[in-house]
Amino acid sequence: MKGVILAGGLGTRLYPLTKITNKHLLPVYNKPMIYYPLQTLINAGIKDILIVTGGNNAGDFLRLLGNGNEFGLKHINYTYQEGEGGIAAALSLAEFFADKDKICVILGDNIIEKNIRRAVEAFEEQREGAKIMIKEVPDPQRFGVPILDGDKIVKIEEKPKVPKSRYAVTGIYMYDNTVFEIIKTLKPSDRGELEITDVNNAYIERGQLTWEVLDGWWTDAGTFDSLLRASQLVAETGANKLD
Ligand code: G1P
Repeated sequence: MKGVILAGGLGTRLYPLTKITNKHLLPVYNKPMIYYPLQTLINAGIKDILIVTGGNNAGDFLRLLGNGNEFGLKHINYTYQEGEGGIAAALSLAEFFADKDKICVILGDNIIEKNIRRAVEAFEEQREGAKIMIKEVPDPQRFGVPILDGDKIVKIEEKPKVPKSRYAVTGIYMYDNTVFEIIKTLKPSDRGELEITDVNNAYIERGQLTWEVLDGWWTDAGTFDSLLRASQLVAETGANKLD
């Protein structure tokens, strides 16, 4: 399976921290944010990785990570997103890189405590479709929220005012190659973006979405509060442990 890290966007919720740099280059405790999702993929056994970035600071990713020697990689792939179009629009740029392979996608501001290797291996065995990772959170209204019927996710609502479960859909997604066909059918949402939640709902409609609850803590780092929390969690317990 190949890996894709989405690290574009304007990071407006972190302004003025993001006035002169990309959100994913900001520090989370003792490392640049992008280090964490990169390590997450590598710990899961994924070595063929694409970073999708954009904006004025795209070159800094290359300066920071190079070919990934520090991470034991021989090569990192990069691509550039022009303008703003949402997570699914950024993902569409990975079509050429994915070729016909399955992909594991991680949002560049998602940091986890443990290892997703088992879920990635389970998805390798899954014949088709997608798999998402969900996590119980105190503030689901900030995220994509799954509606559960027994052990089935029947729909995902993006940032609902009244969440229908206590779970967030984390920014870790696994897709078969049809994801790129799905993205081509999407229409922009009210916030003018191609939503990853619409991609996942398309897989639900096909009856091809599986899910797992993520082990250990999970946080995003795209707001002042979650960025602070991310640093605290990393400082207190460490991230990306192997088991
Ligand atoms: C995005 C997704 C949301 C998901 C979240 C995870 O939200 O749209 O469904 O739960 O990432 O971090 P955003 O960070 O773009 O608001």
